[in-house]
Amino acid sequence: MNIPSMPICPMRSIISTLQRAEQRLGKRYFATEAPLGGAYIGSQYWPLLYTIERLNMPSDWSFADLGSGLGNIAFPAATHFKAVVGFELDTALFHEAERCRQELGFANIQFRQDDFLYADLSDFNVIFFFKPFVLRFVELMHHKMQELRPGTRVIANTINYERARIFDPRSFEQIFEIDDQLALRSDAERYATYLKVDS
Ligand SMILES: C[S@@+](CC[C@H](N)C(=O)[O-])C[C@H]1O[C@@H](n2cnc3c(N)ncnc32)[C@H](O)[C@@H]1O
Repeated sequence: MNIPSMPICPMRSIISTLQRAEQRLGKRYFATEAPLGGAYIGSQYWPLLYTIERLNMPSDWSFADLGSGLGNIAFPAATHFKAVVGFELDTALFHEAERCRQELGFANIQFRQDDFLYADLSDFNVIFFFKPFVLRFVELMHHKMQELRPGTRVIANTINYERARIFDPRSFEQIFEIDDQLALRSDAERYATYLKVDS
């Protein structure tokens, strides 16, 4: 009897591909080649997908991850958004993410080995970041966020104290935060979404 092949859940393939990449790297947390104390640790994907769903973000939007690492966020984002860009300066992470992209067959993701601090982010509808570097982090991210065009959504995975200083309340409105009940399951209380309301 022929058993029809079942569609494979894209997240299962993504998770196993990323796990193999992590094994090839041989480490999960490390200082990267990015300046200003670049540091790698991968995010969990479910708070991102939960935020996208709760905010009803249209699938024809474009998305950028500022410091994309192996793609823990870029790949899940690409299951929803039409175009995803991952900026990653570290050579090993950049090549591993690109290898994963080819293995998974995602044509709607572009990994760029570029410094996002110098990139024009005005074309993106949604921006994500998870503390990419440590030195002058709040000051530099504050300036970068001020460049975004009104209407841009930013999903930030950083502690409250830093977010309060990065997002100027005169130009950003917080529109979502993972609630306490969900946060108990992880450190997701740090995921908050902001809307740029002014230039
Ligand atoms: C904490 S990791 C987050 C990885 C991924 N966004 C995630 O959430 O799974 C931050 C990454 O940002 C990269 N990075 C730091 N500064 C950067 C810069 N100015 N331009 C591009 N990448 C940068 C680091 O090399 C590191 O891999």
